[in-house]
Amino acid sequence: MTSQAIIQNEIQLVYISDRCASTDDVAINKIKLRAEPNNLRRNITGALLFTERYFLQYLEGEAAVVDALYASICRDKRHTNVRLLLRKPIQQRDFSRWSLGVKKLLDNEENQDLIAVLNMLGQASNINESQLDWFKLALK
Ligand SMILES: Cc1cc2nc3c(=O)[nH]c(=O)nc-3n(C[C@H](O)[C@H](O)[C@H](O)COP(=O)(O)O)c2cc1C
Repeated sequence: MTSQAIIQNEIQLVYISDRCASTDDVAINKIKLRAEPNNLRRNITGALLFTERYFLQYLEGEAAVVDALYASICRDKRHTNVRLLLRKPIQQRDFSRWSLGVKKLLDNEENQDLIAVLNMLGQASNINESQLDWFKLALK
């Protein structure tokens, strides 16, 4: 079998959701502590960006594994209104070093542009890849 015959079936999935008021920073840290070993075991990598209002998460890995995790995340009561922004096949991961990088985006002067895009995404149902690239940069 040549290396070209190895079928890669990896995807990147991105969603945005509304953070519940009761999901405080302590609760988010709990999610992180549980998610990291889970993702490592499932060979999933990704990043979670959050503000006072939103979560934006990137998940990467084998398609069926990512889809199953996403289904479980959608049922999670710590956020609501989960909207899928992107699901695409990938040859290469963007967050290969992290089982789950978590970053809080403070609503300050420096982050105004990103917050504005995030607020726009919060209302929109789709996204273009250049908007997503902004978040990739903010997370890396
Ligand atoms: C915003 C958000 C992001 C999450 N991200 C992950 C994740 O990357 N990996 C994970 O295993 N669980 C994640 N969870 C938790 C899952 O919804 C679910 O509770 C967890 O996978 C169940 O893990 P367990 O089988 O160890 O109980 C997330 C939850 C929320 C609210």
